[in-house]
Amino acid sequence: NNPPWPAYRGYHEYSFAHATMQSRLPTILGKAIDDATRTLNEVSEEERVVDLAECIERMQDLMEDLSGNAELRLIVDDGEADVVTWNTEIVKFFRGKDFMNAPWLFAEAYKYRRLHECFSVSKFWKDYDVFYRQKNDTFSRSSQAVFELASRFAKPYRPSRGGPGGEREMFLELTQVCLWGNSTDLSLLINMTEEQIRSLQSTGGEHLASTEQNILGNDMERIWDTIQANRAKKDPRRIDFVLDNAGFELYCDFVYADFLIQSGLATQVRFHGKRYPWFVSDVTKKDWDWLLNNMCYGNLFTNASPAELQALRMLAQRWKQYERDGKWIYEQHPFWCTGYTYWDMHSVAPDLFLHLSRSDLVLFKGDLNHRKLTYDCAAPASTPFEQAIGPMSNASGAPNIVSLRTIKSDVVVGLGRDGDEIAKRLDNQEPGWKISGKYAVVLLSEGRPG
Ligand code: F6P
Ligand code: MG
Repeated sequence: NNPPWPAYRGYHEYSFAHATMQSRLPTILGKAIDDATRTLNEVSEEERVVDLAECIERMQDLMEDLSGNAELRLIVDDGEADVVTWNTEIVKFFRGKDFMNAPWLFAEAYKYRRLHECFSVSKFWKDYDVFYRQKNDTFSRSSQAVFELASRFAKPYRPSRGGPGGEREMFLELTQVCLWGNSTDLSLLINMTEEQIRSLQSTGGEHLASTEQNILGNDMERIWDTIQANRAKKDPRRIDFVLDNAGFELYCDFVYADFLIQSGLATQVRFHGKRYPWFVSDVTKKDWDWLLNNMCYGNLFTNASPAELQALRMLAQRWKQYERDGKWIYEQHPFWCTGYTYWDMHSVAPDLFLHLSRSDLVLFKGDLNHRKLTYDCAAPASTPFEQAIGPMSNASGAPNIVSLRTIKSDVVVGLGRDGDEIAKRLDNQEPGWKISGKYAVVLLSEGRPG
């Protein structure tokens, strides 16, 4: 039950897999060690200091394994809900494989699981997040776009059903806000200046019209038709977000989800996050709480006006109320932090597949989710999205699925019949186009009722 194309692997020097396994991951791990060391220097109690020093030693061992391209060993039983899933996959498919010759997607996920293990076996630092400081930092550096959106959307609104400024226009605009919120993830953009962040995050109408040209496979109109058709037919109406990054991207997801609730396009939104730190900037429950509480009570934006701060607070209060009312629900299934692609979801995590099959639309955010949907393999760019995601489209019960993804890695599908030529032209004209986050896809697969 695999796609016919080969999965990318670290030794494929022509792909981003190689750069990632060779240098990006060691750099990310090095920064993680720096963060834990900074914390070590702040702690006073002996037992806690010693415990954290041991976590850092384990991180150094991981660094050696990664840089020395060691064989992938089993995960230590640290009591996590996913240990058996991880070790079964290693034993069944990747025994004897190393970081470079295992599929890139698996090896990269494995590195984040091993990083988690460095802490999960400790006494005091089980939940320590080496990326927490960085995640919070980028949100504070996104102030311009944060307040642009807050000022526009803080007051409750009732979009009119037709015409300019009507619901359809807002849907299309906010789908793009939600999409481009994904272009600023930390794992790639760690060294960006505030100016660079600002230009990437600009949310104005004109800007969005021009960025729409960069959406190479664009099903937004069909998505609108699908969601809109539901309103007449169904109550309750449920939309799921499989989240990607914390901070600014999550904030954009919230703005979008707020619109879906206020417009009545959805009556309930379920958000799926990670159980522990994952691919640097992915959302955990702690990141979710941090964002809402910081917006409400924090003091991150020292240059903001009282009106801007008030707008931010209003948004957060409404969003927290959605949580209390059960209109917004945070979930964290263990399957999201495994090395499996979503081709295996229905067999490895049938409960999750069934749960999603009850949703009216499942939005997968970002690059990693897209890689997992498509098996991270060398499918031609003209491959239809439905075909590229296999069982997530054709298994009985498959829900409507949307991928909102700025392109940051090799796999690109869903560009239509001319897709292969488009990809070839971009390869020649703009060699880094697959990792820059400048281009995107918004793709829909219509579900298959069970
Ligand atoms: O490192 C692999 C990767 O998927 C990159 O392609 C991307 O830069 C990063 O991880 C995460 O992207 P996202 O947060 O959009 O999933
Ligand atoms: Mg991410």
